[in-house]
Amino acid sequence: MKSYRFGNPFSTGAVIEKPVKFLQIDELPGFKLTKSSASVILRYRMQKDDIVIGLGEQLGGINKRGRKYITYNTDIPEHTPDKLSLYGSHPFIIIQGRYNEGLFIDYPGEISFDVGFSDKDILEITVGSADFDLYHWQDNRWQDIVTSYLELTGGVYVPPKWAFGYQQCRWSYPEAKSVEEVANKFRQLGIPCDAIYLDIDYMQDYKVFTVNEERFPDFGRFVKELRDKGFHLIPIIDPGVKIESDYPVYEEGKKHKYFCTDEQGEDFQAAVWPGLTHLPDFSNAATRNWWGNLYKKFIELGIEGFWNDMNEPAIFYTNYQQQGVYDKLQAAADNKALDKVDLIGLQWQIRNFHNSREDYQSIYQHPERDKTVCHDQIHNLYGAQMAQSFSESVQQSYPDKRFLIFSRSSYSGSQRFGGIWYGDNKSWWEHLELNIKMLINCNLVGYFYSGADIGGFGDNCQAELLIRWLQLGVFSPLFRNHSAIHTRRQELWEFDKATMNQARKIIRLRYALLPWLYSQFLEFASMNIPLIQSLSWSFSEPRCREIEDQLIYGGSLMIAPVYKPNVSGRMVYLPQDKWLLWWAGSWEDRKMKVLAAGDHFIECPLDRQLIFIKENTLITMQEPEDYVDQRKPDTLFIIGLVSSTAQVKVLVDQGKYPAFAGMAVLDITMVKQEKNYEIEIKTVNRELLQWQQLVFELYNDQGNLTILHRKLI
Ligand code: GLC
Repeated sequence: MKSYRFGNPFSTGAVIEKPVKFLQIDELPGFKLTKSSASVILRYRMQKDDIVIGLGEQLGGINKRGRKYITYNTDIPEHTPDKLSLYGSHPFIIIQGRYNEGLFIDYPGEISFDVGFSDKDILEITVGSADFDLYHWQDNRWQDIVTSYLELTGGVYVPPKWAFGYQQCRWSYPEAKSVEEVANKFRQLGIPCDAIYLDIDYMQDYKVFTVNEERFPDFGRFVKELRDKGFHLIPIIDPGVKIESDYPVYEEGKKHKYFCTDEQGEDFQAAVWPGLTHLPDFSNAATRNWWGNLYKKFIELGIEGFWNDMNEPAIFYTNYQQQGVYDKLQAAADNKALDKVDLIGLQWQIRNFHNSREDYQSIYQHPERDKTVCHDQIHNLYGAQMAQSFSESVQQSYPDKRFLIFSRSSYSGSQRFGGIWYGDNKSWWEHLELNIKMLINCNLVGYFYSGADIGGFGDNCQAELLIRWLQLGVFSPLFRNHSAIHTRRQELWEFDKATMNQARKIIRLRYALLPWLYSQFLEFASMNIPLIQSLSWSFSEPRCREIEDQLIYGGSLMIAPVYKPNVSGRMVYLPQDKWLLWWAGSWEDRKMKVLAAGDHFIECPLDRQLIFIKENTLITMQEPEDYVDQRKPDTLFIIGLVSSTAQVKVLVDQGKYPAFAGMAVLDITMVKQEKNYEIEIKTVNRELLQWQQLVFELYNDQGNLTILHRKLI
């Protein structure tokens, strides 16, 4: 990797250790550079078969060719194909071709990536500034470029284990009673669940870090009662601080100058849920420190997880935008001659006065007392630095504990502070398909702990879509059902009985696999290798470069989700060697079949999902619990198709910070012999492993099953 410096860049913190030597750039091998005082353009001629991957949270496919993308974090509830930006910016791109070239452009403002859109053979990157750092890789293996990028930007956030449980959200459960009802329903119906969310209505007048005491009397006791039933309560945190005298967060922020300003140095005003607010200036270390410590109020009451929202930052309107609309309306009202009134222009202005670029250009941030930066130039850092403030604060105050934290907006590097969710999707089949690609694309830039709103946030979800989405969700580290106000309720019991029963089986399957799913997370995070991968990560067959609707989870599983309505099966491509197809309807029902490489049409009615276990790898399972570590079942099932040798490691994390400290390990290796299997079992910190019995369910390449029992000593 080589590091280049253009001009005098803002220090984004994306890279943990600055490379010792930056080269001043005049040329970049393979690229044509055009520099001006306000931008730099990099042009690269792609070969016909080159594939371009990367850019993290974006629309489009895994292969980015043929489209344009812009890094400018945007609060965008309509994820339709015409959109060029979403909530996060991850300006890391790899060209897989004759050489594998990687580029990370560390600039937190607008960059456009025209990947063969204007000219099908040209990748044209336009950086909206002449001040930035650029990291360039040329490597034989593109996978090594990904790992190097993750190392450079500080590795991957590891959530606590309970955050792998099923989670229920709704905008909103507005008072304690409705949360309790949901919690009780989960337990009565035997549907596993670990977390329930509080959306904006838990606050007093949407004032961040407050609780409405009428609707949530004795909040601390309430949190504790839920914990006793095995639920974590997770409040939403929005950055906008309501302008209201005597509201302590506002008063403190104002007094200490913690807020972003306008050009005149006055605190900038932007309207969000609470009405007019000020926006904390997270570029400033003192502000970060202040804000990060505000979460403690909730932590001291037993809260262990948070979701940071609206941190692009979203702006509904400013006084300036509002005035523009009023002026136009007034002019229209004054001018009675209809043909002179520009109603279409007016409609346009009304539709576009939220999240206006003009507003972002008139916000100023102050990373240091005597330093001022226009927000527009560092816009994409806002949510990342909000996550950083939480991360720094808890590491200081609770140094050996890990919390759940995820954010809507993000920037390269913030994958070490927390996870993300993919924002306001819809209950559309297209968004289920998008979810598959998002998991792969976001893992590539280190957001292993991420996921979409299961069932879709906006619009009304139908039963079949919910089931198919839950089936994919089993393999989504963040496994959260969330839906918007005024849409059909999406809790499982709001659907017909058969749907609910099926949903329960799917969630129980997730809990059966959870120790293995989480262990793989730990292992892949420790290696800086994406947990969820496209097939081409491990299989070099050219076909695999084109498959965008199957995914690999960890070292053993391939998933082929059904993402279309009214179908009874789908085509699946199996690369290389043999696979053990688990036609999974529930965790107990182990209907397995050995399949050879190649194309297959596989039946998959709604009560089944397709899970493929790679030959000579093993997965593990245990009886599902109602919530993570409720009973700690004592039997572990080890399952696989073993034709020569196989190994599985189950890492049992102790919930401490850092994640890998003092871990217990169960390490199983086996060798297939003519008639039997030779099994070697090793442990580290045996006393921390809950299992006493090991049950092996081993298939040979003809699909014949051998069951073996061992005691774990
Ligand atoms: C935003 C969030 C969504 C949340 C809503 C209300 O749209 O993306 O998840 O429910 O705000 O807080």
